[in-house]
Amino acid sequence: MRIALIGFMGSGKTTIGRRLSEMLEYSFIDLDEEIEKAAHASPAELFKLYGEGTFRSIESKVLEQLGAADADFVLACGGGVVEQARNREVLRKHFLTVWLDVPFDEVARRLSGESGRRPLWTESDGKAAQPISSHSSLENKNEVLYNRRQALYAECADLVYRCEEPEGHDASALHVYELIEQRGG
Ligand code: S3P
Repeated sequence: MRIALIGFMGSGKTTIGRRLSEMLEYSFIDLDEEIEKAAHASPAELFKLYGEGTFRSIESKVLEQLGAADADFVLACGGGVVEQARNREVLRKHFLTVWLDVPFDEVARRLSGESGRRPLWTESDGKAAQPISSHSSLENKNEVLYNRRQALYAECADLVYRCEEPEGHDASALHVYELIEQRGG
């Protein structure tokens, strides 16, 4: 079975995915790492050198190849994989797709200081004091992206793991494992 974990940046897809793959005795694949292998550049470098469009088209090709693979694995997707309709179609058709739905405040807390590695997470560089209005507009930009994507995650999820209370990734992986088992996977 091919299992895809989707969710916003900072929702724990990679850590939970790795743990889940051990529980299921499946291999673990990280989509961003596969993109890096294919393009010989990290996602952050691809964004910087060629722009988001180039990154998204490589992301789609790699996802399509994985969707066609006859193997058991857990795939941790990048947070923006749902941006393209063709990817949502691949996720719906070829994967058991699990959405890690973590509240905005929690992902914001986890992502603080991560903007270098995550080009779409905007924050002040901390070097200059930010006027209150500019700070709140950065928060707002992240929150707008988060809110817009919620509907896209919902559109392709077979299972939703809603993480209301902060808990360790091991506990989350176990909950996701149980959801998959209950579904008869
Ligand atoms: C992205 C999320 C990143 C990475 C790229 C784009 C996004 O992955 O794929 O920077 O659009 O949300 P993570 O969700 O693992 O941070």
